[in-house]
Amino acid sequence: MAEQAAGGAPPSLRRRLLVFLLVPVGLLLLVAALLTYAIALGYANRVHDNDLSDDVLTLEQMLSSEKLDGELSEQARFLLEYDPDGHNYFTVVSRKRGLLAGNGEFPHAPSPPPGTAPVLYDSHLGKHSLRVAVASMTSPHDPDDLITVTIAETLRDRHQRAREILMLAVPLQTLLIVSVLSLVWFGVNYGLRVLQPLTRRLAARDELSPIGDVDVPQEILPLTRTIDGLFARLRSVLALQERFIADAAHQLRTPLAGLSLHVGRALADQRPETLRDALEHIRQLTVRTARTSAQLLALTRVQSPLADPAGFRTLALTELVPQAVGLRVHEALAAGVDLGYQGSEAPQYVCGDDAGLQELLDNLIDNGLHYAGRGSTVTVSVLAAPDGGSLLQVEDDGPGVPAELLPRLGERFFRVPSNGEPGTGLGLAIVQRIAERHRATVHYRTGAHRGLCVTVRFPPEKSC
Ligand SMILES: Nc1ncnc2c1ncn2[C@@H]1O[C@H](COP(=O)(O)OP(=O)(O)O)[C@@H](O)[C@H]1O
Ligand SMILES: [Mg+2]
Repeated sequence: MAEQAAGGAPPSLRRRLLVFLLVPVGLLLLVAALLTYAIALGYANRVHDNDLSDDVLTLEQMLSSEKLDGELSEQARFLLEYDPDGHNYFTVVSRKRGLLAGNGEFPHAPSPPPGTAPVLYDSHLGKHSLRVAVASMTSPHDPDDLITVTIAETLRDRHQRAREILMLAVPLQTLLIVSVLSLVWFGVNYGLRVLQPLTRRLAARDELSPIGDVDVPQEILPLTRTIDGLFARLRSVLALQERFIADAAHQLRTPLAGLSLHVGRALADQRPETLRDALEHIRQLTVRTARTSAQLLALTRVQSPLADPAGFRTLALTELVPQAVGLRVHEALAAGVDLGYQGSEAPQYVCGDDAGLQELLDNLIDNGLHYAGRGSTVTVSVLAAPDGGSLLQVEDDGPGVPAELLPRLGERFFRVPSNGEPGTGLGLAIVQRIAERHRATVHYRTGAHRGLCVTVRFPPEKSC
């Protein structure tokens, strides 16, 4: 995807596989060629060494029938010196009479005793490397004389043989490798055919139910499971949207009917006092409707599974909460409520989102100011919890909520019947969702004497 976005071709499995295989396979070809050459050379050496030994023995046999009284016969000389490419050397040396024949000076090794197999060794002549075979025999005419026959050849022919074998092997190996790479190239298509049933099944779907693991190849499972996770989040977003639409339609129906009623009333009777009364009702209804839609939106926002948790950071409740309380003091004074803050000595940290926590606290303070009533006290505190977490508490000494209704606080649209205040019944639901996003829990109980005490309990890990 990233590659595609950058303007290049989409990533390709085949290309990736080929590129991944090319370098190691190239190296393998090289190693195979080296090995082939080494094996071929070893083989050529064996064959040539045998030939060289045979040549020494043949020469010895030929010399047995020679007079060996100084010069070699014409025929023997021709045979010995016949060397069309100039890569063979020989010497025939008599212990008594010295060099009888020869065409090269190369270092001699001690000859083996007469009658034993020729000895082979490596040597040099000028810049040429040589392979030498040496054997000895008792002179056929003089039992006291020892004739040593040495034949040497350069390694050129052996390398030539090895190269010939290499030239045969390398194209074959290359052909093999090219065939395997082509198989990989087409094999990818074949391998991907295993996805066809899944593709068909997905193409036939028009809902977001999980793909599941049926006919999903093992290698694709992590991908389909990730997609299933995404589907699950999308399903809950869709459910949330549906609920929002249903709630909004339901919640707006009553105020819209009220608005229409009061407008009708104003149109029917245009006396100033009726008009004023209708307008006042219309004002109240619009304020309430605006508040309802704002709360519905706030609830939907904090419930969204796509809400970005990246905004979470380490926050000091002991700084954030008193600031938020400070901003509401004037409003509290106007409402005749004594709003105060009590903080723990030690700073209390949570991993959270600034705006969310602010909204949570505002909803709790709103309720304190509305429901506790004139002359009451609302105390916000931040405490260290015994388990190492932090507690945020909002307590008032107002009328509170009947004990049997406490468990219902936090339900969407739940309002204590006849509480006498305008509201939506969404504030505590919002508090609840924001707390969940912080992995915190919300508890409601009756205050020390009366009133309501709401406690938000944050888990022990304090930094993000
Ligand atoms: N501090 C409080 N004292 C008494 N009743 C409360 C208090 N806080 C909440 N309630 C009750 O809980 C109900 C739900 O509160 P909330 O979810 O904030 O919705 P709203 O305030 O819009 O009605 C309120 O209608 C009220 O009856
Ligand atoms: Mg409220």
